[in-house]
Amino acid sequence: MRNTFTRALILTVIMLAIGGILLRSDMDVQSALARTAASAREAISLQKPMSKPESAGWGGPARTSGNEISFAADGTAALSNSSRTMACDYDMEKLRKWKQQFHLEETFEYTKRYVQVSRRDIPRKSVTELGQNLLVDAVKVVDVNKQYQSEACPAPLVAPVTKSPFPSTANASDFMFGVSTTYQRFTDPRTSPINEWSYWLTDGKGHSNGGKLVLLLLNATDGELEDAHNQLTNVGIDVDVYRSDPNLIMAVRYLALVPTLYQHPAGSSKKWLVICDDDTFFPSFHALADRLAKYNHERPMYIGTFSEDVNNIQRHGSQAFGGAGVFLSVPMSKIVSEKYDSCRTEQKILESNTGWGPQGDIILRKCIYENSEVKLTLLNDLWQLDLFGDPSGFYESGIKPLSLHHYRGGIWHVAHPWHYTKVAHVCGEDCTLQRFQTADDFIISNGFSIAYYPQGIDFDLDQFEATFHPAPEDKGWNLDYKMGPQRASLHKTGRKISWDLQEATVNDDGSVTQVYVCKHDDWRWKNPDETPMTSRDGIIELVWLPDAW
Ligand SMILES: *[C@@H]1O[C@H](CO)[C@@H](O)[C@H](O)[C@H]1NC(C)=O
Ligand SMILES: *[C@@H]1O[C@H](CO)[C@@H](O)[C@H](O)[C@H]1NC(C)=O
Ligand SMILES: *[C@@H]1O[C@H](CO)[C@@H](O)[C@H](O)[C@H]1NC(C)=O
Repeated sequence: MRNTFTRALILTVIMLAIGGILLRSDMDVQSALARTAASAREAISLQKPMSKPESAGWGGPARTSGNEISFAADGTAALSNSSRTMACDYDMEKLRKWKQQFHLEETFEYTKRYVQVSRRDIPRKSVTELGQNLLVDAVKVVDVNKQYQSEACPAPLVAPVTKSPFPSTANASDFMFGVSTTYQRFTDPRTSPINEWSYWLTDGKGHSNGGKLVLLLLNATDGELEDAHNQLTNVGIDVDVYRSDPNLIMAVRYLALVPTLYQHPAGSSKKWLVICDDDTFFPSFHALADRLAKYNHERPMYIGTFSEDVNNIQRHGSQAFGGAGVFLSVPMSKIVSEKYDSCRTEQKILESNTGWGPQGDIILRKCIYENSEVKLTLLNDLWQLDLFGDPSGFYESGIKPLSLHHYRGGIWHVAHPWHYTKVAHVCGEDCTLQRFQTADDFIISNGFSIAYYPQGIDFDLDQFEATFHPAPEDKGWNLDYKMGPQRASLHKTGRKISWDLQEATVNDDGSVTQVYVCKHDDWRWKNPDETPMTSRDGIIELVWLPDAW
């Protein structure tokens, strides 16, 4: 696999990248857009009279205890000057953009709320009660064709969080990642992993965090290899791109990642060689690195997790399911690399076929188990996510997963982990997917959703809500061995409605904007008699302010 030609190719690609024209940075584009938007706004506001938006007829103190201004007892965060920087105007340019982007009706509910991050010496809680209401006033209804007066911002929610590290300070120098995919998947906007990789392989500001990526593209042309390399290095990812052999079957191409990483010149300076899929995501790199540091990388180690679905263990056997990430120590990779030829014979390919085609995960397990005494070490905070349907119950469970997988739709779920983790840049890694419960029965699953429970929160928040289901055959308990029995889904009960995060942005001033969207015709948010719980689309915008603002 590694020969003179490959090395020459890599060198060529690197030279081209250095000589190539760099894309204009995002920053310039953003500020240009902001300027355009601002002047357009001024022009419009000069022409049209301003009015107050209508009330949606729900939410706000009329219905709840209205304890807005009194902060949590220990809400000692530096709030002194935050009101200076909060803006609760109706930015119609922005609202019109969102209407287009999220396919909303012309009139929709809109709520904006600031959240003041308060980093303290506390442990991460699965649910933190804020003692404040999310809604200060009745919810407002905006028409994108109108103009509205700006309003005074209510005091921000105060969210106590741990002093967990920021993604920008992660050090991935001990890791090398191998991914095998196609150029088509790499470039298709629906499947391209570039943004996700930039989260866990860079500091978020265009510099590598020391992690090395080895990308294998199936039968790619020279031009495609070069383009992939340029796109990744432009965002700061330290990557080598190779062409993988189209004559190998998929399971063997997967196994081939191990010798490719092991024989890579940088391989010997690493502790962990990681095999993953192009839809594997590591949301908390500090936590992942800390966890791996507990294992002895000088021994042959094979670390990963099972599928959540017990049927898949019965079907395919007991091994690491690769989409969650498989961590091999260098001595383990040495054994697999030395035995590579004998691990990929016709006979072994046959033995790895469980009736569903030859499985790469099985070939790797057999190669390890038949050539060493090493067994899999389970790391159950990694998630393969072999789940179907609405994944909310997983993302709303308050956990801090070390990996995510299968979030690009198709038969699996759709999720936006790159957007979900943006908030970590303002409040630290622990904050992603952490839950904050307000006094008016909302739960913010930070970065994923804001759910409202109109009949109160009277269920066990420590259990996963079974919004999802396993692949057939669903025995009713397939997932229980990994997730515990799950509480009943609140779909179509009239007891839950949620605004789901569609986009998040790290702003120039260090704050983070999250856009949560609810569609009035969402199949989940119905009353038991099938009538919709809401007649309007809605947006909740949260802006997270850094501590010591
Ligand atoms: C708040 O703003 C005022 C005036 O802008 C300034 O004098 C004061 O030092 C600021 N306080 C803090 C804590 O930054
Ligand atoms: C990152 O980790 C490597 C290996 O553990 C270490 O040599 C290096 O000094 C670290 N870099 C930073 C910036 O801490
Ligand atoms: C590999 O790509 C070339 C064109 O670049 C094509 O002719 C060939 O059929 C492909 N091989 C396989 C096995 O897909």
